[in-house]
Amino acid sequence: MRPKPMQEFLDAIISAADYYVTDPNGKESLAKIRAALQTPSKMSDGAGAQLPIRDSLEEVAIPSHFHAPELRHLVETFLRLEPMLNWRRRSGDMSCASANFAEGHANANIVGPGGIEWRTDVWLGVTLLSPNVRYPDHSHPPEETYLVLSNGSFCHGDSEWFEPGIGGTFYNSPGIVHAMRSDSTPLLAFWLLWAGAE
Ligand SMILES: [Fe+2]
Repeated sequence: MRPKPMQEFLDAIISAADYYVTDPNGKESLAKIRAALQTPSKMSDGAGAQLPIRDSLEEVAIPSHFHAPELRHLVETFLRLEPMLNWRRRSGDMSCASANFAEGHANANIVGPGGIEWRTDVWLGVTLLSPNVRYPDHSHPPEETYLVLSNGSFCHGDSEWFEPGIGGTFYNSPGIVHAMRSDSTPLLAFWLLWAGAE
């Protein structure tokens, strides 16, 4: 049995992703993630770590601002889970990051290595950027589907910057280089990675 805030959040994000993901590869990845998450894994016993950019979360995660019921419910469940999250700064390669990146971002793994629920097959987490922050170019072996809950721009591979918009989704193939940047408002996005066996 999962703690109630975790189960309610996972139900909400899977159902929002089911609704919003359109890319066939993203749908296929999501089906594996959904099936794997039917089996709960070990919960971490560590306490949460404070979010350093709380003002940005308060500006962007206001349930009543979301007209779509799936997204409003997702934000509500996320806010109930948020005190348990272990917010952290990214380490490693900072290529192309803006100078304000270090103090202008926070990531939290919700499920996966270092997550509240420890597992290796699904990595599910969240990124928050303060206004006018550019995340570094990065890549990882697992495929990834993004669900975006704010304004902000993204790029992957040799694409131009694109704006998925609120409820927008896109798929990153394994190993593709990708990045994101906020505009004059904070950026909030969830990512769902499939790292399990085929
Ligand atoms: Fe990624």
